Amino acid sequence: MLILGIESSCDDTAAAVLRDDVVLSNVLSSQDDIHSKFGGVVPELASRQHLLAINPMVETALKNAGVTLPDIDLIATTQGPGLIGSLLVGFSYAKALCHVSKIPLIGVDHMAGHILSIHLNKDKPTFPYIALIVSGGTSSIYLANSHTDFICLGRTRDDAAGEAFDKVAKLLGLPYPGGPHVSRMAEQGDPKKIKFPRAWLEEDSLDFSFSGLKTAVLNHVNTSHAQNKPIHVADICASFEAAVVDVLVSKTIAAADKHKVSKVSLGGGVSANTTLRTELEKRCRQSNLAFFSPQIKFCTDNAAMIALAGYYAYRNNGATGLEQDVYSRSHLG
Ligand code: KG4
Repeated sequence: MLILGIESSCDDTAAAVLRDDVVLSNVLSSQDDIHSKFGGVVPELASRQHLLAINPMVETALKNAGVTLPDIDLIATTQGPGLIGSLLVGFSYAKALCHVSKIPLIGVDHMAGHILSIHLNKDKPTFPYIALIVSGGTSSIYLANSHTDFICLGRTRDDAAGEAFDKVAKLLGLPYPGGPHVSRMAEQGDPKKIKFPRAWLEEDSLDFSFSGLKTAVLNHVNTSHAQNKPIHVADICASFEAAVVDVLVSKTIAAADKHKVSKVSLGGGVSANTTLRTELEKRCRQSNLAFFSPQIKFCTDNAAMIALAGYYAYRNNGATGLEQDVYSRSHLG
């Protein structure tokens, strides 16, 4: 089956073509340049840019795969969660294509794409596995029981991990998106220099909270300014990163232990963070868990993972009706 995948949930316009679970093409138009001067994604600008980029991205994906629209058997597009204006561009575009071409539509939950992105790897886990998904919009732990059965075991109660990285970067005067900059600065700093808090929440809770940590960084910076002390940006970044990674890794290992699962995977944009990858891999090894991580291009938002999740969802449940709407919160367990 040939699947055209479309992703427009936030600030990347992406398209991909898969033959079953094999990627034939995967292209993306980033809006980082547009949003960087505002220090975050401006929803209206994001929607308008999707409008400009979506058709060229789809045409490029088809061309790179060496196929044309009539060859496509299924169009998979992100239905939610995300920014409503951004989602509407991709979803409406896909609905119109499906309407005129009579190709079936499948609306995909963006989180299912992230959880399944590990299946775009050669080395992939068998079910069940624990998936830690960390991005600008989410920090969640899922139990993946099959290609279509996912249970959310924990989620962020406030800021997502990537959002915390971006906000800390902004208050330290680093460019947007801040995650990669904080992570680069952290390499030169001492992770034990500043004792930032870890929000473990209630005993046994697999939820996350990063807003207190973000406030602790702000207080540290303000106190240093008030006392005329120099700010050591590298140490702040390293200590902040260590606090985030400590909680993410500990809760993921706890989830595997609690649900007696022997495999762990990682996904979402924050999985590009080297400390997170290294620490999770190390802790998995110590706990006799197999660790799987997708290539970076499949960790960040992309349409290949949407096409893959759509392929399995369509095989399981059939097509999505063209009367359907987008949604802002994930529909997964
Ligand atoms: O999944 P993703 O591409 O899309 C959205 O959620 O929109 O994730 C982007 C997020 C941003 O918050 C970015 O700062 C963060 O991932 N990120 C990182 C790193 N690279 C990207 N965070 C920490 N360390 C990194 N190396």
